[in-house]
Amino acid sequence: MARNDGKENKTAKTEQKTSKPMSTSFNIKKIRKDFPNLTTTVRGRPLVYLDNAATTFKPNSVIETLETYYKNECSNVHRGVHFLSEQATKDFEAARQKVRDFINAKKTEEIIFTKGTTNSINLVAQSYGRTFLKAGDEIIISHMEHHSNIVPWQMLCEEKGCVLKVIPINDQGELMMPEFEKFLNPKTKFVALVYISNSLGTINPVKKMIAAAHRLKVPVLIDGAQAVNHLKVDVQELDCDFLAFSGHKLFGPTGVGVLYGKAKYLNAMPPMEGGGDMIASVTFEKTTYNILPYKFEAGTPSIAGVIGLGAAIDYVQAVGLENIFTYEQELLAYGTKLLSKISDLQLIGTAREKAAILAFILPDIHPHDLGTLVDREGVAIRTGHHCTMPVMQRFNVPATARASLAFYNTKEEIDVLAAAILKAKDVFA
Ligand code: ALA
Repeated sequence: MARNDGKENKTAKTEQKTSKPMSTSFNIKKIRKDFPNLTTTVRGRPLVYLDNAATTFKPNSVIETLETYYKNECSNVHRGVHFLSEQATKDFEAARQKVRDFINAKKTEEIIFTKGTTNSINLVAQSYGRTFLKAGDEIIISHMEHHSNIVPWQMLCEEKGCVLKVIPINDQGELMMPEFEKFLNPKTKFVALVYISNSLGTINPVKKMIAAAHRLKVPVLIDGAQAVNHLKVDVQELDCDFLAFSGHKLFGPTGVGVLYGKAKYLNAMPPMEGGGDMIASVTFEKTTYNILPYKFEAGTPSIAGVIGLGAAIDYVQAVGLENIFTYEQELLAYGTKLLSKISDLQLIGTAREKAAILAFILPDIHPHDLGTLVDREGVAIRTGHHCTMPVMQRFNVPATARASLAFYNTKEEIDVLAAAILKAKDVFA
């Protein structure tokens, strides 16, 4: 894994241990042809898209799946006996099975379709939190959480009188594990952790942390929004109790996401929303709820989104997450080295275990100005606080510029980014 502190030997050793040789089926030229958006031009220049942590491009197979659904198979699910409705229901439930296989859940009923990661986390905070947490209970999160894994817990704390404990991070952007261990105590009733930080790239040792929380029988939610597209996430291996992720960061459609939860928890939790499909029977005297997973899926879901997510998972599985991880680690090492050579550029987030996210600042250029200038060269990066204001506060910066890579990016594109940064520096010189 890459590290920007000159410890070449350690880096090489870690890489050897974690990166497997890439299979010959990983053909970057062929892969790039599958993503029509990669051929877009911006201001007459080929687009260099390095904003994959915000959202990813979609392969043709996903776009065609959406088109087929809307053109030929448009129908509602779980409601009709007619041909199209049955077809849509079959495809919808097949996608649930694909998600189950993708994350290796024990049961299909443990896969809830939601609007996205934020919606999934709010569901757990509202349903589990309001039911099982009480005043004085402690909830542990970390300093590098996305706002979507901070605010729902703050809202719960305000309502119920729970206490939020925040694991600090070191200067490299790694969680301070001894502090986490110290936080764990009989008052701890929930832990919610990001697997890969969207603003630092840090890959957190969540498996170890889950095991530590489980020693006190504390359930753990993992925010997997930035993880499922970079590495293999196996919920049984991790033994997490909940996992949240979004379709659009996994090369699938927007507006759809997943909440995985262990059946023992989901069965005990009340539904968060009432409406069609989540009921078994309704009278004015009493409503009874549907079984899992439908209890948590009120109203017409994002049918096209779910089926499209299934197609995205097929695509990612065919490329192979081991290949993706290995290739992206190469890109990360290359990009880290190249950006580190730019004078005054400071990388924010230099953890030993990192995904392909390069956040940085330049002392004399505000990240927003930098973002605008590199955009003129066709390079798309994100600038700002990345919905992680506490991370900005921790590093004492108002914002960062962030290049976030996907497996369809290339070293040549990183070269274009570096050249665009140098050009921006010239403008400000
Ligand atoms: N959370 C997304 C990002 O990091 C939007 O850009």
